[in-house]
Amino acid sequence: MENIVALAKRRGFIFQSSEIYGGLNGFFDYGPLGSELKKNIRDCWWNDMVRRRDDIVGLESSIIMHPKVWEASGHVAGFTDPMVDCRESKQRYRADQLFFSPVFYKPAQKFLGYVAILEADEKTMMKDWFKRSEKLRHISGFLASGDEIGEALSFTEIKEEQLSQVLGPNATVPGTLTMPRGFNLMFQTNVGAMSDASSVAYLRPETAQGMFVDFKNVVDTGRVKLPFGIAQIGKSFRNEITPRNFIFRSREFEQMEMEYFIHEDADWSKCHQEWIEWCRQWLLSIGLPESHLSLYAHPKEKLAFYSKGTVDIMFAYPFGVQELWGIAARGNYDLGQHAQASGKPQEIFDEATKKKFVPHVIEPAVGVDRILLAVLCAGYAEEDVKDEKGNVEKRTVLRLSPRIAPVKVAVLPLLKNKDALVGRAKDLHKKLQRRYAVFYDDGGNIGKRYRRQDEIGTPWCVTIDFDTIEKPGDTFTLRERDSMTQKRITEADLFALLDEKVY
Ligand code: GAP
Repeated sequence: MENIVALAKRRGFIFQSSEIYGGLNGFFDYGPLGSELKKNIRDCWWNDMVRRRDDIVGLESSIIMHPKVWEASGHVAGFTDPMVDCRESKQRYRADQLFFSPVFYKPAQKFLGYVAILEADEKTMMKDWFKRSEKLRHISGFLASGDEIGEALSFTEIKEEQLSQVLGPNATVPGTLTMPRGFNLMFQTNVGAMSDASSVAYLRPETAQGMFVDFKNVVDTGRVKLPFGIAQIGKSFRNEITPRNFIFRSREFEQMEMEYFIHEDADWSKCHQEWIEWCRQWLLSIGLPESHLSLYAHPKEKLAFYSKGTVDIMFAYPFGVQELWGIAARGNYDLGQHAQASGKPQEIFDEATKKKFVPHVIEPAVGVDRILLAVLCAGYAEEDVKDEKGNVEKRTVLRLSPRIAPVKVAVLPLLKNKDALVGRAKDLHKKLQRRYAVFYDDGGNIGKRYRRQDEIGTPWCVTIDFDTIEKPGDTFTLRERDSMTQKRITEADLFALLDEKVY
């Protein structure tokens, strides 16, 4: 991860937000290459999900909606994470990510207390504890180098009175952690000049509710017939207690969600399966390796009461296998809730039975930032290669699919002081630029220029060399990023190659 984060910064993919002021935890900026990569992911999804299908239409709803939307959807009452505060360090933790390890004084097996450990950082936390243990022993009376740590317990296994024996992750004395309480993840704001309870509104925590609230508008205007979907891409905001793993869990992020409405009597399970497979295939189409993907079906007992089933497509990130894309069968809960709360029926008329009903929905919901992190992680490689003289050197390469690579082709005149080479290169660059993101680079030796493009994931480099201008055929050297092979290609064939691979 460290190398990937460093590359993302060095090459202008991702910056910490407000970096010159010390940054803001959980917020990120996408630089020149990152914004291109993100746009390409969005565009591929939109083209495949909306434009290339006859049964799905698009929507762009507002980020701030009527507060009643979030009451009806259940977010005001229930969109919470269990949160634990530390009275000493003023840090806040998610209860489900905190574990308690009993500590024993080894020779006598005397129980000393518990240390609280954060799930994700278990190993580093432990090392850190032992480093600080000498100091802690004097302060809190436990955790010396000879002490032994037992099997970790979760919050559900620990009793309130035992908390007085717990040393928090960033505390120096035991007993500073509170019991968990619900912390609503929605960001609040006020609409208009008044700042009182009547003006409270929320930044949306998901884009999905826009599709439900506009359901009738789309049905009445969009010439859609069941089954059909409404798709949306846009920013969502969650005041995550512990944003972490770079852009994996942030407080401002972007979602690509689609609500696929089906008849109440339709085979929802079949439809659910079809969407799981569609999403999996789509991830493969933008270059994620099959070996990194797996499926996780949520256990029935953990599903919300209205949910019929949820399957997550998981991705093997360097920090563990984590949720990438959730595909949920939500029944008709959301439309039903909005019908009840607004008093406006959210029904469709069935010509066959002459009856009205509230459609059911299958919802594939994914985060753009999580996909972007997955493609960076899967694509990043460091390898030993030989230069022109046969010397071994390290090359860093980002194996991004041509579909999403921020730069599709780099145009490189072999020498920058030869007018004929530069003229032909600039002419080609201009032509390519009309349709693709391309980069013109005439600085440094050609090997270095190739390496620069490898590092940012450019699939092809085209070199305009002496053969281009001196030999018949007007061909260029096409250098392929992954194999590093070179061949000659004409302008027409270059456009044909791009047309086939960049869609
Ligand atoms: N409408 C359903 C919904 O929002 P979710 O599982 O909470 O479901 C869907 O979110 C997807 O949005 C997740 O699978 C993930 O890809 C992305 N996502 C959720 N929270 C995120 C966060 N804090 N940072 C980045 N991406 C997030």
